[in-house]
Amino acid sequence: MDVARLNQDNVVRARELVALYPQKRSALIPLLHLLQEQDGYLSPDGIEHLAELVELTPAEVRGTASFYDMFHLEPVGRYVVGVCTNIACMLDGAYELLEHIEETLGTHPGGTSADGMFTLEDSECLALCGNAPCVTVNWRYFGNVTPESFDQLVEDLRAGRLDGEVPPHGTLSRVQRNVGLRAGGGGQSGPATAHGPEVDLATRRTTAAVTSTLAPRGEGRGGNGVAGGPGGAEPGSDDREAR
Ligand code: FES
Repeated sequence: MDVARLNQDNVVRARELVALYPQKRSALIPLLHLLQEQDGYLSPDGIEHLAELVELTPAEVRGTASFYDMFHLEPVGRYVVGVCTNIACMLDGAYELLEHIEETLGTHPGGTSADGMFTLEDSECLALCGNAPCVTVNWRYFGNVTPESFDQLVEDLRAGRLDGEVPPHGTLSRVQRNVGLRAGGGGQSGPATAHGPEVDLATRRTTAAVTSTLAPRGEGRGGNGVAGGPGGAEPGSDDREAR
């Protein structure tokens, strides 16, 4: 992969972002997302380029990026799989699930599968405790995951059946949370649906639909590194297309 500086289109986008703020450095977080969306991670050359754009040192840019675990300073797979092992998920078998996932992917948390497709992470609470145990893939949620449904999920991702719902790592333009995609529910189209008939419409409506864009237009990012939070827009209300 040719990873270096921002490409021409992204330089234009970066300049637009910088122009939104009274101080150049204030655009740094959106610019980091832009770089990560381009290359899947933050390369040293990319970091240097951002430093030039916001008139900081590369060390300052790197220091900011390293504070947030959504940013990756080393190459990762096309899919970053986060397995929650916090209390609710742990009580619902998260460690057994993690063991199974390690076997399926042939790697441990912090590692990447031999084919370079999947990077595995052991995550803190992902705020989907009601659907434990849960997993995220590139920050898209999957709830009530079982070993079998995880294997099906991997098969669907490899086959490209979830390309509309789980874009390559780094793509943030629209991250929806709708209780949790159905792990192993390949072939579905359109916005993520709940994972079973027990989740009624009222539940879906009160569930956060998380929307994030690269532009700082007031979509705050809550804890756990996810964008937005409860009270976010209904799926489909954002004017950007899911990627
Ligand atoms: S403990 Fe797993 S999502 Fe909260």
